[in-house]
Amino acid sequence: MTDLVHLTQQGDVAVITINNLPVNALGPGVIEGLAQALRQAEADKRASAVVIIGGGRTFVAGADIHEFQRVMSGEAPRTEGLLSLLPAIEACTKPVVMAIHGNAFGGGLELALAGHYRVATPDAQVGQPEVKLGLIPGAGGTQRLPRLAGVALAVEMCATGNPISAAQALKAGILDRLIEGDLLAGAIAFAREVIGKPRPKARDRSEKLGTPETNAPIFAAARDAAQKKQRGWKSPQVAIELVEAATRLPFEEGLKLEQARFRECLFSDQSKALVHVFFGEREVAKVPDIPKETPALPVNSVGVVGAGTMGGGIAMVFANAGIPVLLREVDQAALDRGMANIQKNYATSVQRGRFTQQFVEERLRLIKPTLAFDSFADVDMVVEAVFEGMALKKEVFAQLDKVCRPGAILASNTSTLSIDEIASATARPDAVIGTHFFSPANVMRLLEIVRGKATGKQTIATCMQVAKRVGKVGVLVGNCRGFVGNRMFHPYRREAQFLVEEGANPEAVDQALYDFGMAMGALATGDLAGLDVGWRIRKEYRHLERPGVRQPLTEDRLCEMGRYGQKTGAGWYKYDEKRRAIPDPEVTQLVRRWAAEAGIEQRKITPAEIVDRCIFALVNEGARILEEGIALRAVDIDIIYLNGYGFPAYRGGPMWYADTVGLKKVYGRICEFRERHGELWDPAPLLQQLAETGGTFAAFRKPQTAAA
Ligand code: 3HC
Ligand code: NAI
Repeated sequence: MTDLVHLTQQGDVAVITINNLPVNALGPGVIEGLAQALRQAEADKRASAVVIIGGGRTFVAGADIHEFQRVMSGEAPRTEGLLSLLPAIEACTKPVVMAIHGNAFGGGLELALAGHYRVATPDAQVGQPEVKLGLIPGAGGTQRLPRLAGVALAVEMCATGNPISAAQALKAGILDRLIEGDLLAGAIAFAREVIGKPRPKARDRSEKLGTPETNAPIFAAARDAAQKKQRGWKSPQVAIELVEAATRLPFEEGLKLEQARFRECLFSDQSKALVHVFFGEREVAKVPDIPKETPALPVNSVGVVGAGTMGGGIAMVFANAGIPVLLREVDQAALDRGMANIQKNYATSVQRGRFTQQFVEERLRLIKPTLAFDSFADVDMVVEAVFEGMALKKEVFAQLDKVCRPGAILASNTSTLSIDEIASATARPDAVIGTHFFSPANVMRLLEIVRGKATGKQTIATCMQVAKRVGKVGVLVGNCRGFVGNRMFHPYRREAQFLVEEGANPEAVDQALYDFGMAMGALATGDLAGLDVGWRIRKEYRHLERPGVRQPLTEDRLCEMGRYGQKTGAGWYKYDEKRRAIPDPEVTQLVRRWAAEAGIEQRKITPAEIVDRCIFALVNEGARILEEGIALRAVDIDIIYLNGYGFPAYRGGPMWYADTVGLKKVYGRICEFRERHGELWDPAPLLQQLAETGGTFAAFRKPQTAAA
């Protein structure tokens, strides 16, 4: 037996413990160990029943995802032994009881479903999350689960990947009993109760499989929901097909089909991208020069300066995590407005069933409005979210530096300004950092954590921890204009506008990007955020523009006409009272006229060109960011784009997408654009180098690790 699986004897019950920490993934060694332990337990005359349990904090979180990352097209993953282990468990002549705590996910739930009985702690969860990795359950989950839980629940679990609680699983028949108190003792007691009783196998059951008539609307609704909520993802549709197959085919045939589809998914680009995202979300939390052990400061209270769009949302973020917040404004009217907005947002959450009224009342009690800075004397951290302007930010930071206790962290939510310059207004630059939340702050998962030249490691470690605690994906970035996300977004939106000025309709540009998988088209995004925001910034920075370099014409002119986007009922599109976008032929006509005046040649533009121009503009800027060390790794850029900019997860993020297309091809296309459109398309030196040497962004690491 391997070290990963232990067999012990507790009276007449054999206990098999899986010890592959941290999450008991079914990697190589575990499956073999389980098979061997089972054979021994079967042969051991002292044992009349078998309990399988997980050591550490969980039962089994599934197959080892590293295995899937390793396999190349056609190869068998080293988890395939699971397929022969599960029938061996079913065939065991002694009852096998699965004892679940923590999670039984993916292959972990499939392992449990092969047992004759399942018991669990009340706080356990079970699920088939494979679709989130672009996969489907590949060890019988799509065939056994509907037989135990019924078609409707099984299809929902397999297609959405969302877990259910132990209580729900008990009600659905996935579990046989919840165990309060010691799980192992309860499981052994349960096992003794079933000695000599029948050993039910999920594969033999059919009473919950429904009829074609009852099932048809369930599958139609599941397909519809998957199309809407997981647009562009292939695996949910495949998972639905497989659960449907379970209702039509004999068990073994269903299993064969599941295997064939599992392998197709495994070797798909979507699965490779989503596995990259799974590990990426965990990798961004790891900063090479700030080890896990770096002491972080306790953050038990927070001050937020400014109760506008962002400040209000940020206050909610902390309150939702149970952290008391002091919210400061300049005058009572602004404070009342800010608090009213917070209350309105919470009321909407209650209406939508996201929060209970009681939860909201508790959160609101945690947010204390104030006009006085003095009350900030005791807070552990401050997030500043006043208007975007350096003079004001410096004034606020100088004040905060005086009022706040030594050691308190001072963070700015600025989206464009230099953290170093802001820090220079204080005597504690090591405690100054950027925490760039995305709008709406209480909804968007992304938090760019901006490291200034002087920002201390403890300050960074604390903010990374705080991000996790408040449910955000914190990504550390370097200090430059626009940091990572907005800096890349600028050329992306520039190209979208150029394309309209060269002959594409606004709706054609947005449709091509939407079809690529973006949550929204680039122009519609501008309308949502407000075209005036960029217009004001451009007016301020006009003196920095290089003469002779092409600039987009349209958005400034739309703003001059009062078309700021959704907030004024018109921008690139017109908006009805429900803020639905309506294409506006007037805009297209105006752009044609402005383009003619500027001598811009008009031509027919394909959706493929739209995607290449916009997405490769992102990639080219991303390559510069990587080379400069503003992002630590390409995956950090990918995670930023997935969580902050609506980039489709199944494409893995812009840098992963470029690697998938092939950097040689991307570089070639960018050179074509350079030829046609000039210096804005100068290829990033790193892209050129990787294209010429056959490298990838994913493997690239800047020699010195610290972000700029
Ligand atoms: N395989 C390999 N590594 C895994 C893993 C898995 N299935 N699940 C988690 N890990 C690793 C993580 O990468 C992380 O590693 P790190 O410390 O080096 O970064 C470590 O375990 C701890 O994971 P988390 O940081 O995510 O810990 P949490 O406590 O926050 O969450 C969890 C635990 C809820 C189990 C979460 O890790 C999770 O959801 N895991 C993935 C579950 C999953 O997708 N299972 C299906 C796998 S595919 C499959 O089973 C196919 C089958 O049908 C044949
Ligand atoms: P906003 O205009 O909605 O709110 C700013 C608030 O700050 C106003 O209510 C104002 O009264 C208050 N304020 C000004 N001076 C103050 C002071 N000395 N003390 C206390 N309050 C003061 O602005 P918004 O959109 O919330 O932006 C805030 C910051 O967040 C800016 O730096 C902006 O660049 C950044 N940001 C904005 C995003 C957005 O989508 N709106 C997204 C990400 C960052």
